[in-house]
Amino acid sequence: MGQCSGCGAWNTLVEERQSSTKHQLGKTRSGNGAGVRAQRLDDIKSGAESRLATGNGELDRVLGGGIVEGSVVLIAGDPGIGKSTLMTELATLLKDEKILYVTGEESPSQVKMRAERLGVNSKNFLLLAETEVESIIRCVQDEEPALMIVDSIQTVFRSDLPSAPGSVTQVRESAAALIQMAKASGTSTFIVGHVTKSGTIAGPRVLEHMVDTVLYLEGDRHHVFRILRAVKNRFGSTNEIGVFEMRSQGLAPVENPSELFISDRNLLSPGSVVVCSMEGSRPMLAEIQALVTNTSYSNPQRTATGFDGRRLQMLLAVLEKRVGLPLSTSDVFVNVTGGLRLTEPAADLAIAAAVASSSRDIPVPSQAMITGEVGLGGEVRAVPQLDTRLIETSRLGFNQAFVPGRGFDKKMAPKSLECVGLKSLEHMMDLLF
Ligand code: TYD
Ligand code: MG
Repeated sequence: MGQCSGCGAWNTLVEERQSSTKHQLGKTRSGNGAGVRAQRLDDIKSGAESRLATGNGELDRVLGGGIVEGSVVLIAGDPGIGKSTLMTELATLLKDEKILYVTGEESPSQVKMRAERLGVNSKNFLLLAETEVESIIRCVQDEEPALMIVDSIQTVFRSDLPSAPGSVTQVRESAAALIQMAKASGTSTFIVGHVTKSGTIAGPRVLEHMVDTVLYLEGDRHHVFRILRAVKNRFGSTNEIGVFEMRSQGLAPVENPSELFISDRNLLSPGSVVVCSMEGSRPMLAEIQALVTNTSYSNPQRTATGFDGRRLQMLLAVLEKRVGLPLSTSDVFVNVTGGLRLTEPAADLAIAAAVASSSRDIPVPSQAMITGEVGLGGEVRAVPQLDTRLIETSRLGFNQAFVPGRGFDKKMAPKSLECVGLKSLEHMMDLLF
């Protein structure tokens, strides 16, 4: 069939052959289930996993403290975002470890060119231009590397399966074979996967539940910042992020992202507000810009970059209803600078303040940080980890913070920071505009 009868998308169906061996309930491979016994939790030894720290602070943080031996990490992202670059950099970081780089996309000379650019001078960096899984596994058995990188999973295939490389079956089965090999041999494995824009068919999604850790490398291709985000991690916390900057010599870790994200601010312009957002355990300051202009369309435009568009619609409705800000005849544009994406409700209040500031044409004090969740009634709700946010805010030289009144205790605030507890949007409007 050319079209999926379920969702209506074209050319998304793939053939999958079912294996002919039928499984019968109650019968295991070893016969009739004799000798199968559950273990008591107390009797199981908890082996502390051994980790290989890469020495790259941002990468280690996202991995939860280093690469766990025998773990399988999926690193996914749009084409051209820097996955191969980051993987090649492992060779400069782990000079003493034997690394096998399986390249299915680029020729060895292309990889060599990149490696030279990144300053790789490791004697233990092995390249293998091979896409057939059995051959890759044999090579791993021969070389016994500490770390294997497969770039990318969409190019490798199993010759005993009829479907084409990149199809769901091939991606899943090849990955399963590689994972099994990694677990059996203790080889830590990085699998690179492209996120396909149109229909995530054969994308990294099919692999997410199979691997130990899923990292997404994201960022705007037109910006230099790249964010490495853990969305699943069996060996650490999820939602940790690492920030990198794409330079001519590769991806450089950014240790102080707050400073960077707010460094280009125009201090006096209306519509600019600084918020402190938590990315995992890490507070990060970001600048939100809003532009409110009279519309010349019957349907005013609302555009959000780096923030959920529907949440913006909601905030605009609350602003209109609860504080009487006339927005129905205005276009509203909201932008989080630096290509950052804010997903926390804690950014609500800052967005509302930015919109109000632009609408009234009155700047928000440039040394103020604003955070809080906004409810439909216009009330300001508490945000998690407020103390951490305040410490980061004062560390970067800010002297004022507008925070949710509930859950705020004066003792939380660092001395140099004047904190104002807010009850409602109206309260904020009275104080600021
Ligand atoms: P790449 O790692 O090849 O992307 P992916 O494997 O995710 O498809 O990197 C792609 C971009 O990175 C490419 O447009 C060039 C840029 N780049 C740099 O800016 N500096 C560098 O040192 C390298 C190696 C790449
Ligand atoms: Mg690549």
